[in-house]
Amino acid sequence: MAAMLAIYGSPRRKGNTSLLLRNAVAGAREAGATVEEIVLRDLKMSPCLEIYGCKETGRCVIKDDFQPLYDKLLACDGLMLASPVFFYTVSALTKIMMDRCQSLWVKRYWIEKTPFGKRDYSKKGLFISVGATKGKKLFDGVLLTVRYFLDAVDAELWKALLYRGLDFEGDVLEHPDYLHEAREAGGDLARSIS
Ligand SMILES: Cc1cc2nc3c(=O)[nH]c(=O)nc-3n(C[C@H](O)[C@H](O)[C@H](O)COP(=O)(O)O)c2cc1C
Repeated sequence: MAAMLAIYGSPRRKGNTSLLLRNAVAGAREAGATVEEIVLRDLKMSPCLEIYGCKETGRCVIKDDFQPLYDKLLACDGLMLASPVFFYTVSALTKIMMDRCQSLWVKRYWIEKTPFGKRDYSKKGLFISVGATKGKKLFDGVLLTVRYFLDAVDAELWKALLYRGLDFEGDVLEHPDYLHEAREAGGDLARSIS
């Protein structure tokens, strides 16, 4: 049975990305996966302090709520991450988590000496994002950031669901097709890794 992580990166509990991710989680569970949900705003997590305490073991030395998340990121078969676009990148909550994963980057590239550009990842990631505006480049920043974050956790960007023109809490409820697409994607991801 596939073990998946679902990471909610919005400060809003019932915001657009949260509603989409909830649907993806439901789809994954329907497909038989076990899914653990992590709400980043509930965690006490320091930003990366760039002290490289992770240099010897690949494990971050800051003792806070990142520690159990580190183990879960290592152990899962697939992950689903949702973040709104904030100033053309991911939310600060999401970015703090990503920066703490520099320890996993150190593990992968400095300690295990994985060659750069290796593409046979052991995990798959689904990324969900929304923004209020509609510009062509709205998701350029988040996609680059997410791709390299996923690489650090040994995951490929399997699919990205990106929706423009959603701003206020619950706007996505006016788009049942988006919610349906998220549910399908969660199910497809679970099936693809089981
Ligand atoms: C701090 C902040 C920065 C934002 N930056 C952008 C932006 O750069 N581009 C954009 O289109 N929307 C931007 N937005 C709007 C959010 O992406 C939008 O409200 C989205 O629906 C929030 O998703 P959520 O409900 O999942 O939190 C920003 C909102 C906030 C609060």
